[in-house]
Amino acid sequence: MSDTPFKVAIITSSDTGYAGEREDKSAPVIEKFVTEAGYDVVEKILLPDDKEMLSAAMAKICDENSADLILTTGGTGFSPRDVMPEATKAIIHREAPGIPEAMRWFSLQITGRAMLTRAAAGIREKTLIVNMPGSPKAVAECLEYILPHLHHGLEILTGRTSNCARK
Ligand code: MTE
Repeated sequence: MSDTPFKVAIITSSDTGYAGEREDKSAPVIEKFVTEAGYDVVEKILLPDDKEMLSAAMAKICDENSADLILTTGGTGFSPRDVMPEATKAIIHREAPGIPEAMRWFSLQITGRAMLTRAAAGIREKTLIVNMPGSPKAVAECLEYILPHLHHGLEILTGRTSNCARK
């Protein structure tokens, strides 16, 4: 059994961030959370809200197995340019709906606006992809709740364990 840290890629979907008009404050929040949880951040990618570009970047990481987990931020709302869930669903092989359900359940106890994220999650090859909303605050709130549980999912996905017994 391997105890090599899981590899994480962070993808930000933001037209203004990509154009250099706004600082990406959410990717550093994700990086801090996952690093403190013992993961290795292998890639940070900032892209515009472009479905093809987002899908291609995620599929490449999965197909090259360069990360075990892709955490995305932004592009999950109702703006016509918000396409991260569509970009994700276009390339995943299996959905993992429990993760965004859990994120929304937890977040709704903080703000009713949590119902406005269309975030998706799923698996391609041996990589799990999880969408999160765009604001640094939302990212922190989501990760606080889901991150401790993702570890076990990644262990199963990567074949490190098949045992679901809870301690
Ligand atoms: N989830 C949490 N935990 N905290 C938040 O502040 N903001 C919501 C929602 N989810 C929020 C949240 C809001 S206001 C929007 S519009 C949607 O996420 C979509 O955000 P996005 O378009 O930046 O992805």
